[in-house]
Amino acid sequence: MTDIDLDEHSIVIHDAEGFAGMRAAGRLAAEVLDMLVPHVRPGVTTQAIDDLVRAHVQAAGAVPATIFYRGYSHSVCTSINHVICHGIPGPKPLQDGDIVNIDVTVVLNGWHGDTSRMYLVGEPPLKARRLVDLTYEALMLGIEAAKPGNTVGDIGAAIQRHAERNRLSVVRDFCGHGLGRRFHMAPNILHAGRAGDGPELRPGMFFTIEPMLNLGKAAARILDDGWTAVTRDRSLSAQFEHSIGITETGCEIFTLSPAGLHHPPYAG
Ligand code: MF3
Ligand code: CO
Ligand code: CO
Repeated sequence: MTDIDLDEHSIVIHDAEGFAGMRAAGRLAAEVLDMLVPHVRPGVTTQAIDDLVRAHVQAAGAVPATIFYRGYSHSVCTSINHVICHGIPGPKPLQDGDIVNIDVTVVLNGWHGDTSRMYLVGEPPLKARRLVDLTYEALMLGIEAAKPGNTVGDIGAAIQRHAERNRLSVVRDFCGHGLGRRFHMAPNILHAGRAGDGPELRPGMFFTIEPMLNLGKAAARILDDGWTAVTRDRSLSAQFEHSIGITETGCEIFTLSPAGLHHPPYAG
């Protein structure tokens, strides 16, 4: 046996060229989510959203990373209400009171920008809006913990603490991931865990943080389509995702909204 952490040693350390590539890809992904804001309203189908995304991404000279990904054939994931993640766009119209996560990954000049936000459809109930607000806060607390000297476990611990203090559960079945020239690579970023556990964070590491928080229990189940993950107890679930790069002093968020539309409500 060895005490060498193989995962730790397979984490790519990127240079300035990588940061430049990720900055451009991340910005495009965030612009796509900005562009969608006025379109996400009652009566709009998730397939219509998918079509808008594909057109926008292709017009920018990029490709949606999900289109040929392991048999997935859409440009975004649209995860409504009790859907945790990987909801497949389709002909069903959004309804007043829904909360929906839209997750887009673009490949621009070989670099991956992966980000998601929640959108409020019409006027969701207070408990749904509270879940959305707390999930955004959890992501940002995870990002604050993403700095040199800390470990991957510090990120999960910060997210878990905020969720559980507010009586929310953290989904364990899916995690954040390294990315760059590939869509998914080392390290895995767990959204719950113990401070100090896991690989140490170093400048040049690129990864996503994408916590999924539930109003009810954490347990997930995959529908027969092979993709859609739902809460077993059908409680509401929310998620936000950023792609980041560790710097000398902290981290750079590659997928910040250029329009300042970080979380809902997006219109006053
Ligand atoms: N964008 C998702 C992520 O955050 C992955 C979606 S894979 C798909 O990692 F095939 F479901 F689209
Ligand atoms: Co991701
Ligand atoms: Co994503």
